[in-house]
Amino acid sequence: MRGRGGGGRGGRDGGGRGRGRGRGGGRDGGGRSGGRGFGRGGGRGGRGGGMKGGAKVSLEPHRHEGIFIAKAKDDALVTRNLVPGESVYGEKRITVEADGEKVEYRVWNPFRSKLAAAVLGGVDNIWIKPGSRVLYLGAASGTTVSHVSDVIGPTGIVYAVEFSHRCGRDLVNMAKKRTNVIPIIEDARHPARYRMLVGMVDVIFADVAQPDQARIIALNAHSFLKADGKFVMSIKANCIDSTAPPEAVFAQEVAKLQQEKFKPYEQVTLEPFERDHACVVGAYRASKKPKAPSAA
Ligand SMILES: C[S@@+](CC[C@H](N)C(=O)[O-])C[C@H]1O[C@@H](n2cnc3c(N)ncnc32)[C@H](O)[C@@H]1O
Repeated sequence: MRGRGGGGRGGRDGGGRGRGRGRGGGRDGGGRSGGRGFGRGGGRGGRGGGMKGGAKVSLEPHRHEGIFIAKAKDDALVTRNLVPGESVYGEKRITVEADGEKVEYRVWNPFRSKLAAAVLGGVDNIWIKPGSRVLYLGAASGTTVSHVSDVIGPTGIVYAVEFSHRCGRDLVNMAKKRTNVIPIIEDARHPARYRMLVGMVDVIFADVAQPDQARIIALNAHSFLKADGKFVMSIKANCIDSTAPPEAVFAQEVAKLQQEKFKPYEQVTLEPFERDHACVVGAYRASKKPKAPSAA
């Protein structure tokens, strides 16, 4: 499994909460995206997360399909808005005109979304792309789900599971306008309760912040994840064991996944956007490499 160490910077204004271990890195393409401006203006509850209104902005595709970088004085991660004219959680929108066509993007704030933090942390592959079928566990009010909905576009589908009815209300309202989001207000520990609603999926994304998170993913994978499907799991160390060092907790969670037929490929830190969090990505029931034909 490929590991990405700690820290780095989240951009000029992106830090403050992280520990700043490790390297800063490049801006987009290959590695970490800690260059200028990413995450600016966000903070925990902050709005906007990046672009100054009226700034001259150009758009560049990120190396992750369906994600873009808005380049201006401060760069920002953005997704193409599936519902132009609408913000979901107060995030800024940017309209860019190209070839006479206006396209609207939404700023994706890594302080508010662990998936965005993983992308900026240099994760190799999130396996979520246009057309993907995604099971999202721990949807909360739908902040990250809405960006997943943008990324997968009209041909994809995201089943968003959340057991809190309070968050679930916002999630359901968001899904009224985003037809590729199926909100499910249920406990992810009981996939049989939503078996009738969910088809087989390409990817499970999990951010339930529970001590039994690995088991929760496994239960859902056994029911809904196709063979060789992928998982993306955010781990909040102190939700699992607040007494052990975070690195030990991450290793323990990886070992639990391995026992459940998952094959972790890579691990990235979510610092400086989320302290003592990591994101682990891998495959489920990964197919073995075909054997080379024997000489005889
Ligand atoms: C860290 S928050 C998720 C934030 C969200 N992923 C985002 O980026 O917008 C964790 C969420 O998981 C939900 N959750 C925890 N345990 C759950 C379970 N067993 N089933 C469904 N949802 C659960 C919590 O109610 C909470 O809203």
